[in-house]
Amino acid sequence: MAEYDVIVIGAGPGGYVCAIRAAQLGLKTAVVEGRDTLGGTCLNIGCIPSKALLNATHQLHEVHENFEKMGLMGASPTVDWLRMLAYKQDVVNGNTKGIEFLFKKNKITWLKGWGSIPAPGQVKVADEVHAAKNIIIATGSEPSSLPGVTVDEVNVVTSTGALALPAIPQTMTVIGAGVIGLELGSVYARLGTKVTVIEYLDAITPGMDAEVQKTFQRILTKQGLKFILGAAVQGVDGTTTRYKLRKDDSEVSLTSDVVLVATGRRPYTAGLGLEALGVEMGPRGTIKTDAHYATNIKGLYAIGDAVAGPMLAHKAEDEGMAVAEIVAGKHGHVNYNVIPGVIYTTPEVASVGATEEQLKEQGRAYKAGKFPFMGNARAKAVFQAEGFVKILADAATDRILGAHIIGPGAGDLIHEVCVAMEFGASAQDLALTCHAHPTYSEAVREAALACGDGAIHA
Ligand code: NAI
Repeated sequence: MAEYDVIVIGAGPGGYVCAIRAAQLGLKTAVVEGRDTLGGTCLNIGCIPSKALLNATHQLHEVHENFEKMGLMGASPTVDWLRMLAYKQDVVNGNTKGIEFLFKKNKITWLKGWGSIPAPGQVKVADEVHAAKNIIIATGSEPSSLPGVTVDEVNVVTSTGALALPAIPQTMTVIGAGVIGLELGSVYARLGTKVTVIEYLDAITPGMDAEVQKTFQRILTKQGLKFILGAAVQGVDGTTTRYKLRKDDSEVSLTSDVVLVATGRRPYTAGLGLEALGVEMGPRGTIKTDAHYATNIKGLYAIGDAVAGPMLAHKAEDEGMAVAEIVAGKHGHVNYNVIPGVIYTTPEVASVGATEEQLKEQGRAYKAGKFPFMGNARAKAVFQAEGFVKILADAATDRILGAHIIGPGAGDLIHEVCVAMEFGASAQDLALTCHAHPTYSEAVREAALACGDGAIHA
């Protein structure tokens, strides 16, 4: 029986980052992964392939919408879908191979196969049992099922099938206006598919800042996406989606070539043997852990999508690093108040910390500094001046409580606010920091200025 200090189950962003940090800290580390490639959902069938398709289709959108405006004339490119998929796969392969390289570099053993935990301190892979002082479950999540809907990954698909459709559909129904529905809906809308998004709630991207939601919906509608809000999907027959309008309970149906089910994900823990082991579970299929990622079984930890909190690759990565440090006897920690969320559409949408709605609910006195990208020279130069930056700060202390951005590069811009929040900065601290001109980041500074005596270019 091989013995390890740490065995991580699952090689997604949570698991592989955890393993690398554990190995860096001198622990003998192995990772169990049953897929043919490392990287989990994120690298293989999630974040990374979708970003490749978002990039390719964004370029196409630029050709159609903006090239002539810039004096770039000539025939538009045609889409070779299979080549686009091949490009996407190249991007995936490059990244998954990169993790393999990092495993070799850090002397991490890849135990190939699907793992289970027959007893505390033991991990079984195929017929072999390995011993570990610490076992870390990082098995991630899978798409949740929707009653009355059978997914075949060809006509009725989750994000997995939507990233590999055999052809570009003429029509697509997207169930759920969350992150997956809008990112992949955008991809196909830019490829010419007529995309209709059906959403249960009365706004898109639940939980986001309400002003961002409205602006985002307006911009996506202009890009050709159609939204049916306040509609509960009842089932899908063939490719006909049946939904009930919540305002009057009327039943409506919509037929399209492809139906994308994007109504959330659930923890993936099947086959681990958790029940037999007596592992305590939390709500919605999550594994219950304490503040140090420990389950109720000694030496067994869990992180990422399999535990409570937002299902985000970077949250899993941070937990992976933290738990590795904890089992190495150090003080791993994640600040859950500063976890950014990003939607990689054009424009990008990004947020961190509290929304205005949350602050109102808490009864906290705050000020909001808002700056439109219309006042940002760089955004205007690239035809992306529609969004804004909003910074929320405590009314008395000026401490930054949250930021919400819709606009060019939002997913990168948000991080200067994250760093500021980690340091407990005030809006004035951001406002007094010199920002290079002309950059999108000036809009962040201007929003911070708007929390004080006023933005300059508004
Ligand atoms: P989501 O939870 O973001 O959105 C699901 C949407 O479906 C909600 O708006 C919900 O109201 C709606 N819905 C649920 N049942 C419905 C019904 N019967 N009829 C109509 N609408 C219904 O889930 P999504 O988009 O599937 O994403 C899953 C997870 O993956 C999320 O936690 C997300 O954060 C993560 N993810 C993150 C990405 C990023 O950070 N860029 C990219 C992709 C996924």
